Amino acid sequence: MTSQQERTSPQVYPPPPDLAAHAVAQAELYERAGADRLAFWAEQARSLLTWETEPTQTLDWSGAPFARWFADGRLNVAVNCVDRHVEAGHGDRVAIHWEGEPGDRRTITYADLAREVKKAANALLSLGVQQGDRVALYLPMVPEAVVAMLACARIGAPHSVVFGGFSADALRSRVDDAQAVVVVTADGGYRRGAPSPLKANVDEALADRARGGGSVRKVLVVRRTGQDVAWHDERDVWWHDVVDAASEEHEAPALEAEHPLFVLYTSGTTGRPKGILHTSGGYLTQAAYTHRTVFDVRPESDVYWCAADVGWVTGHSYIVYGPLANGVTQVMYEGTPDTPTRERWWEVVERYGVTLLYTAPTTVRTFMKWGADLLEGHDLSSLRLLGSVGEPINPEAWTWYRTHVGSGRTPVVDTWWQTETGGIMISPLPGVTTTKPGSAQRALPGICTAVLDDTGVPVADGGTGYLVVTEPWPGMLRGIWGDADRYVETYWSRFPGRYFAGDGARLDEDGDVWLLGRVDDVMNVSGHRLSTAEIESALVSHPRVAEAAVVGASDDTTGQAVCAFVILRADDGSPPVGEEDTEALVAALRAHVGREIGPIAKPRQVLVVAELPKTRSGKIMRRLLRDVAEGRETGDVTTLADSSVMGSIRAGLGGSAADG
Ligand code: WT7
Repeated sequence: MTSQQERTSPQVYPPPPDLAAHAVAQAELYERAGADRLAFWAEQARSLLTWETEPTQTLDWSGAPFARWFADGRLNVAVNCVDRHVEAGHGDRVAIHWEGEPGDRRTITYADLAREVKKAANALLSLGVQQGDRVALYLPMVPEAVVAMLACARIGAPHSVVFGGFSADALRSRVDDAQAVVVVTADGGYRRGAPSPLKANVDEALADRARGGGSVRKVLVVRRTGQDVAWHDERDVWWHDVVDAASEEHEAPALEAEHPLFVLYTSGTTGRPKGILHTSGGYLTQAAYTHRTVFDVRPESDVYWCAADVGWVTGHSYIVYGPLANGVTQVMYEGTPDTPTRERWWEVVERYGVTLLYTAPTTVRTFMKWGADLLEGHDLSSLRLLGSVGEPINPEAWTWYRTHVGSGRTPVVDTWWQTETGGIMISPLPGVTTTKPGSAQRALPGICTAVLDDTGVPVADGGTGYLVVTEPWPGMLRGIWGDADRYVETYWSRFPGRYFAGDGARLDEDGDVWLLGRVDDVMNVSGHRLSTAEIESALVSHPRVAEAAVVGASDDTTGQAVCAFVILRADDGSPPVGEEDTEALVAALRAHVGREIGPIAKPRQVLVVAELPKTRSGKIMRRLLRDVAEGRETGDVTTLADSSVMGSIRAGLGGSAADG
């Protein structure tokens, strides 16, 4: 898009007047935060949270880039998310309207949640979990996932939630890295009608102590599906035995603001996932503040639905910590949008009167593909605000979302942030910002970002460059678990003193931010972050693969799709690959990646090639492979060591691509 088009484009949406007049966040928030950023955050921390000891310090940046926020304050995160709402007289308010995929439902009030969290805290203590110990959670989208996270927070045992779609191997490596002492899991969970093998995966991950998992003493198992599971008497305990029997009394300790709250693994540019560390007071301040201002939250009347999974950071900050700190009523749904029909979401919105909906662009594009007529029979008039997260939202999807889901009246907020940032960083404020489809627009009050050129100089409006955060923020990661050097190297070395997010961005003529995607070897598939290196190392661990290169190619629905190029081993004793067994081999390689990492990492395509395009120094030129995967003319090949390679890759591709 050119600046000329932007200026003449009529497609901007001022906030609805009634929302603007009464919005939780008004324009003066930018002024207050701009005038004194630290005083602004100190005020947010005091007004949004309940402290056992109020902090007198705001930011300690003396150990930069390791920040400490509100360091002399003490609080309990679970008390802030649950107990205090009950004490304030809101015990009967629904915290969670839960709906299982098969159609079973549970209503959990704040009083219920308080009781369950205390019991689960006592149960974890009875299993020997101590303050500071790590607890791995590998759970479906059931209320026990929320309860377990809050129980960990309550006793000061950092949780490490591992997405239920990850494999046994991926679980083992995360358990090992964090040295988790307990794993909380379920027999399985429902996705598209089929129960997933969660407990079986835990068993596999912990089966062979020589391979890992040796830190785990107990496995706490929620019964969800009722499927048969193997049982290890000395190690496994049922949730309904130990949690149901536990006392409802638990006195929550007041923990330091910098007490670790959780570790969450995310993909980086190497094959090894990074354990992103978040702590308590600053993280919760930002989660509560951003949830309240970006979604214009009214806890007395709103019904909020974030359709993410608790296994990702969106679920941490915008299902568990932000919404519960703000005392809202929310919907939690276990399954997929097409089970049993493609109208499931709209039935859910109607049933609970959802007012605020937060989802990913890939889901919006899927609904677009299915057609707007599926929404027509449903009363969606309760919706008053829509959010988007996880990847750039193209203007078409943004506009479709507003028109068909938001009945042409609701604001849409495109929220940019990361696992590392803990909470939303760039987003419109719904009562203030005139929104532009496709742009995340401005840093929130209290957050300072810039777009830099190669040399670290901020680009002017209209320019393109690298997105950075220029000042520390309360929800920022405190490091990478067990790897301080990697933290400094990954985020703070490209532009010294600036946090480098890994995203490219453009500033338009008004200074609004347009995200352009990752500039490193990280892919974004359906809003999920995947590392090219991780999938490459999974591929080369297969006996038939000599070398692999993975790229993210653009995909109409999922944003990016994983495309793998593999060179087979000549020396493994197998017969040479002919046309007929290529298909079987490709299927085997996709399954292998699914086993090594998880189904989400399975390549959309596996292309068997004889050579890979490399520079003279041996670096794979992924840009050229992306051209092939996206069906484009190959770009500049002059830096290739062997310029004929691209021709032979294209020539050899007939028949070796497999979709699905
Ligand atoms: C990466 C972070 C944020 C929670 C879910 C993903 C991309 C995220 C947007 C957005 C454009 C976005 C970025 C970022 N991303 N939100 N609104 N517009 N891109 O968290 O797994 O840590 O991934 O997701 O590339 O770096 P994550």
